Amino acid sequence: MPDPLLQMTGLDAHYGDFQALYGVGMVVREGEVLAIIGANGAGKTTLMRSVTGLITNDAGQIRFKGQDISGLRADQVAELGLAMVPEGRQLFPSLTVEENLLIGAQTGRKGPWTLEAVNALFPILKERRAVPATALSGGQQQMVAIGRALMSNPELILFDEISLGLAPIIIRDIYAALPGIIGEGMSAIIVEQDISKALSVSGRVYCLQEGRVSLEGASATISREDISRAYFGIE
Ligand SMILES: Nc1ncnc2c1ncn2[C@@H]1O[C@H](COP(=O)(O)OP(=O)(O)OP(=O)(O)O)[C@@H](O)[C@H]1O
Ligand SMILES: [Mg+2]
Repeated sequence: MPDPLLQMTGLDAHYGDFQALYGVGMVVREGEVLAIIGANGAGKTTLMRSVTGLITNDAGQIRFKGQDISGLRADQVAELGLAMVPEGRQLFPSLTVEENLLIGAQTGRKGPWTLEAVNALFPILKERRAVPATALSGGQQQMVAIGRALMSNPELILFDEISLGLAPIIIRDIYAALPGIIGEGMSAIIVEQDISKALSVSGRVYCLQEGRVSLEGASATISREDISRAYFGIE
């Protein structure tokens, strides 16, 4: 077996006295789409922020492409080929759509995802390139956030709550764009509230419950009962 693309081992995380992650271990293999599900407050965002260098872990290790990246800064992690579409999008409100996209190219690597490529994926962003990002609808802002992450040409892209708060028609558009994004060697972690969606786009799934991995399995064969138990802690 080759090394996994990403491997987390024994990860703990705290916010002050509060412990948000307890010994979390996960792997992402090359070319894989991994889903992470879990109730509000389970620790999904904390885990994504750990991987992308936005918070420091108190224990454990994160290895990416065989290299220990625990303790690296976010920009150093981006240089290695990791990018995140963050929860709540976190666009720069004073910048235009195009300026927000170009920010993504300032970190990370060179590659096929240029401004032209992102505009071809989401043509509405070209039309609206000169308006402030905050003038867009929620769904269009999510497209900017995805585009910005792509502009750093990641090898592994993390989506934290890809469809939360978006209209169904927009969710459909964004999911329709996913195969054009992933594939050609890119791997992905998708954090998703909608369990059916999460299972339908991923090869494997992990469930987090109160900071711990409560379930791991193949998305196609995992049972609904096991998911309910792992998600809600109901016996
Ligand atoms: N900045 C913070 N300061 C203190 N506690 C925090 C902070 N961020 C998160 N937490 C707490 O850590 C726990 C895990 O939060 P996290 O945001 O990782 O969960 P989540 O699974 O992403 O939830 P959601 O589905 O609501 O996005 C929660 O109990 C949360 O209240
Ligand atoms: Mg979250």
